[in-house]
Parts: sequence; C-alpha cells; structure tokens
Amino acid sequence: MIKVGVSGAMGKMGKEVVNAVCDSNDFELVCAVDVIGIETEICKDVRIMGDLKGAIEITKPDVIIDFTQPKYVFENAKICLENGVRPVIGTTGLTEEQIKTLKDITEKNNLGCFIAPNFSTGAVLMMKFAQMAAKYFDNAEIIEMHHNQKKDAPSGTAIKTAQMMAQENNCFTKGNCEETEIIHCSRGGSANANIHIHSVRMPGYMASQEVLFGSSGQILSIRHDSVDRKCYMPGVLLAAKYTAEHNEFVYGLDNIL
Ligand SMILES: NC(=O)c1ccc[n+]([C@@H]2O[C@H](COP(=O)([O-])OP(=O)(O)OC[C@H]3O[C@@H](n4cnc5c(N)ncnc54)[C@H](O)[C@@H]3O)[C@@H](O)[C@H]2O)c1
Repeated sequence: MIKVGVSGAMGKMGKEVVNAVCDSNDFELVCAVDVIGIETEICKDVRIMGDLKGAIEITKPDVIIDFTQPKYVFENAKICLENGVRPVIGTTGLTEEQIKTLKDITEKNNLGCFIAPNFSTGAVLMMKFAQMAAKYFDNAEIIEMHHNQKKDAPSGTAIKTAQMMAQENNCFTKGNCEETEIIHCSRGGSANANIHIHSVRMPGYMASQEVLFGSSGQILSIRHDSVDRKCYMPGVLLAAKYTAEHNEFVYGLDNIL
C-alpha cells in the first residue's frame, strides 16, 4: 500500500483527491493538511492537520499530493523533498525557475517528483492534438475558460499547450498586420512563439480550453471541457503510483500515459 498525504485537503480538488485515495485499494490516506478546517475528520480516522512538516514527521507518507495555491506550492514541494517525501503537484502557477529548482532537489535527493498542469486524460490529448496541428498552421491562438475563483492566469494548461506547439513552429502570428490595442491586453498575453492566450473567468465554467488554428479559408478548433473534477482522479492516482515507484522528475501526465 502506498502511503499518501493530501495537501489542500479542504479545497475543491483536495476533497475529490481524498475521496479517490480512500476509495482505492492501492493507497492508504495517512494525512490531510490544510490551513482551514483543522481537526475536521475528512476520512475515517484522518483529521486535517495545519502543518505540513509536522504531518510528514508524524505520519511518514510516501507521497504528498498537492492541490493548494500558487503562492504556497513551491515551499510545500521543497518541504516534501527535503524530508524524503515525493510530491505530486497539481497546483498551477509554478514558474520555470521554480520547476527547475524542484527538479534539481529531486535529483540531488534521489527521489521522485511529478508536476502536471492538467491531470485529465482528455485535456492531455487536446494538448497533443494541438501540438500535432501546430506543424501545419502558421496562425493559432488559445482561449481558456475557468471558474472565477481561479487565482492564476493564464492557466498552466494553456502555458504548457503553447510550449508544446512552439516545439513545432516558431511563430503563430505570421502575416498578421501591425496591431494597435485600443484597450490594453485586448489581444491577450503573448506566450511562446507569439501564441496569444486569452483567459476567461466566470461562474458556470469549471475548466475549458479551445485552441484555434487558422489558415486561408479554414479554421480548426480543438476543444476540451472538464465538467466534473472526477475527470482528474485517474490521472492523479496514476501519477501518485508512478512517483512512489520511480526516482524521477516528471513534468506532464503525457509522459506516463
Ligand atoms: N493539475 C490539474 O489537473 C488541476 C485541476 C484543477 C485545479 N488545479 C489547480 O489546483 C489548485 C487548487 O485548486 P482548487 O480549485 O482545489 O482550489 P481551492 O481554493 O478550492 O483549494 C485550495 C486549498 O488549499 C488550501 N491551502 C492554501 N494554502 C495552503 C497551504 N499553505 N497548505 C495547505 N493547504 C493550503 C486552501 O485552504 C484550500 O482549501 C489550483 O492551483 C488549480 O489551478 C489543477
């Protein structure tokens, strides 16, 4: 049995992960951490603890699954790696520099670490299909739509999609005329290879993304919608098992599907 802790256990994703871990025969939930709801019994005999380092020392998990907030995820991951625990990170908002630092610590300490901006298999396929299409189009933009409690923009999925597309083509605004933004940022943020990313935040959405490709006389639209957080759980559990069993740093669920 793989011993698992969940950080951010009182959150929307954290609660879903706690249920998935408790329902699985491969995992045992040994601790649940959050800054709210301390002492709440979240699963049989597991109560919310407020201090990650203390929880690790007392319950000795193999893996900590982190769905907290962009502001805290880096420090949480360092605490895990420095105390011999393997982090599986779903929280978005890590910078490239922070990801590199976590990779270095993982390798130095001979541990495992898994970061995935998106744990849903459909979204991973959407990214792969966008990468395939990128070879054939010189113009593309990304629109991502999320609920209005999401703290970071653009989404980690949109950033990763742009990185994958940029491996196939170096500029996605070819032939565009010189532009003047009458309203600042109306063309969105410009990511790798000039891919414009537009972030929509409103109630009603959970997590959606559409990648638009255009060329003379045609538009290709590749879209994925998450309508229930359950869609992430098979990917999260797969990553947790992989991370417990491999001394490897992995960025992206696509690497182990
Ligand atoms: N990778 C994916 O597939 C995926 C899918 C959905 C959401 N996300 C990301 O996961 C993160 C969490 O999303 P959510 O919708 O569950 O958010 P949420 O706000 O509902 O939950 C976050 C939880 O973390 C807790 N928290 C804050 N600081 C903490 C700390 N220092 N230690 C422990 N707990 C702490 C909060 O109290 C809260 O309960 C976001 O970054 C979101 O973008 C990723």
